[in-house]
Amino acid sequence: IMNNTQAMAMALDVNEIPQRYDEAQLWRIYNISEAMQRQVPVGQVLEQKFGGNIWKENSKFLDISIGKEQLKAARSFLDAQRLDAQVLSENVQALIDEEHLDGINATAPEQGQRSKKAARSSMHWKDYHDLETIYAFMREIRSKFPNIVRLYTIGQTAEGRDLKVLRISENPREYKKIWIDGGIHAREWISPATVTFILYQLMSNWENQPAHIRGLTWYIMPVMNPDGYEYSRTTNRLWRKNRSPSRRSNCLGVDLNRNFDIGWAGYGSSTNPCSDTYRGSSPASEAETKVVTEFLAKRKYNLEAYLTYHSYGQMIVYPWAYKAVKVKDASVLQRVGNTAVQRIAQKTGSTYQSAVTHEVLGIAGGGSDDWSRAALGVKYVYTVELRDRGTYGFVLPPKFIKDTALEGWTVAETVAQAIG
Ligand code: ARG
Ligand code: ZN
Repeated sequence: IMNNTQAMAMALDVNEIPQRYDEAQLWRIYNISEAMQRQVPVGQVLEQKFGGNIWKENSKFLDISIGKEQLKAARSFLDAQRLDAQVLSENVQALIDEEHLDGINATAPEQGQRSKKAARSSMHWKDYHDLETIYAFMREIRSKFPNIVRLYTIGQTAEGRDLKVLRISENPREYKKIWIDGGIHAREWISPATVTFILYQLMSNWENQPAHIRGLTWYIMPVMNPDGYEYSRTTNRLWRKNRSPSRRSNCLGVDLNRNFDIGWAGYGSSTNPCSDTYRGSSPASEAETKVVTEFLAKRKYNLEAYLTYHSYGQMIVYPWAYKAVKVKDASVLQRVGNTAVQRIAQKTGSTYQSAVTHEVLGIAGGGSDDWSRAALGVKYVYTVELRDRGTYGFVLPPKFIKDTALEGWTVAETVAQAIG
């Protein structure tokens, strides 16, 4: 059975007409666990029956946007369940339009002393960028530092886009390694923006970096899901998955963070190709997952840290997510997480929280974080949920990019120091 929204989404896939969210509301619904106990999966019902788009689901609340036409019916459903919705936004399209305006008002990137050493490309952090600009920035970093930087094209997506990783190292054979990725989820634009900023922070001042930074091998992949990212820029701002076709359905896309080979068939993902958390037809069924896991498996020697950037929620979480158990050295991960939280508070004033994943985000299998720990034995594994806490959600206005990216850099710096 397909509802209107899914039928519409299908038509859109064919025509590539931009999806609009005029007068769609963003709701925050508390206490869904009570309804769950009565066997009513609130998020799933709102998604499937009322065409809702789940933004975030955790142990405390559910954030979901509902189209204008379905608002009344969805309200009645909540009333019947004795649930209340706090309206976070009365018009999701207005958020999206504002985000865009904020960006085009941004002036040209600052020039100055920093541009001498830094990559002087069209890159800046006053707005979000398309994939080509990000890839051009990566190429530019490589050509500026040919002796220590290597640029890999590790594979291609379903739509034929390249998957690119940079390696920065003065001694790849001996140094301990840290992996950083972004853009697993298409709509979380702040993630690639943050990961490119981390790259910039590293390279604009490489010679003067402390030993715990210069003495590491850095692997950096700003956009793990290029097809989804471009689709979220051109057609549907709230798209989450990749864009690979399914054999059993007209719905496209797999949730890459449910596609990794760890607790894959367990909780927290869907077998329905139309769902936003569709786990795929098998573990690592997706090109993105497959090439990243193969690339990392080959380089697991000395791999000490795996950092993956998402939004939103302002959290620094560590394994496990696929089961309600902590890793053996959880106290170490908690301590390093706390240090990052404190440093962020000092730097930008933002409040982050560090915790074990399943406790704050619920149980979900197939995540890249758990996989790197379980399959490769990486010690410092963190998923960073960047800003904000629900005011704008994924549609974070460009004026917040710099400070948020600085928060992301602070986590990377803190983990690098912990590796030692
Ligand atoms: N928001 C992220 C997601 O849903 C959180 C990832 C946490 N880790 C995990 N393995 N579920 O993918
Ligand atoms: Zn995400």
